[in-house]
Amino acid sequence: MTIGIIGSGNIGTAFARRLASAGIKAAMSNSRGPESLKDLVRELGPLIKASTRDEAARADIVFIAVNWTKLPAALTGLPDWGGRIVIDANNPIEAPLFKPVNLQGQVSSEVVADLVPGAHVVKAFNHLRAEVLAGDPGADGGRRVLFYSGNDRAAKAEVAALIDRLGFAGIDLGSLAVGGKLAQFPGGPLPNQNLVKVG
Ligand SMILES: NC(=O)c1ccc[n+]([C@@H]2O[C@H](COP(=O)([O-])OP(=O)(O)OC[C@H]3O[C@@H](n4cnc5c(N)ncnc54)[C@H](OP(=O)(O)O)[C@@H]3O)[C@@H](O)[C@H]2O)c1
Repeated sequence: MTIGIIGSGNIGTAFARRLASAGIKAAMSNSRGPESLKDLVRELGPLIKASTRDEAARADIVFIAVNWTKLPAALTGLPDWGGRIVIDANNPIEAPLFKPVNLQGQVSSEVVADLVPGAHVVKAFNHLRAEVLAGDPGADGGRRVLFYSGNDRAAKAEVAALIDRLGFAGIDLGSLAVGGKLAQFPGGPLPNQNLVKVG
């Protein structure tokens, strides 16, 4: 099972840090090319390699963490998704104005799903601030909770297994329409709830 990351900012790096800590390989990319990631991947260790966006997008699981307005450009011109898994860690809001985007009644992951036709989208890794996500999920005497949602049962099971391997406690919130909405920022009740499952 290969993992690619599109977006090497706060959230992409937090995810990569957790993967590296758990001994899992990934290919990480951004808009500026692998050369610009040299220092970051050196810091993250040998399991995380710098790649092009296209290479990262060919993985079995593609983790996407890009500024909301840049998602269309970041996901344009990629090869067929063919049932592969996309983890949508994005929220429809952006610094510095933090003005909510008008999603015309859709949940944000449905908008992202339209940008990756044929992929099985699982929303996850979006409800905590990057610095919390980057930290040890076992640091507070239990396992830090991560929510996930999606419409494809098998894809959700794969992401649930990854969440578990990383040391988090995953909680399935159901479909994108239901769970995506609960975990979406802004609007949902779950963002920034830093919960720990004890026992
Ligand atoms: N920050 C948080 O605490 C937080 C928490 C939960 C969810 N989120 C969500 O996660 C997403 C990423 O947030 P962030 O804070 O990680 O943003 P960020 O630090 O600004 O990083 C964004 C990344 O997207 C990359 N990117 C932009 N356009 C691209 C393109 N055309 N092709 C490939 N990569 C491209 C950027 O590449 P370059 O480096 O080359 O510019 C950068 O690495 C957003 O949707 C945000 O709402 C953020």
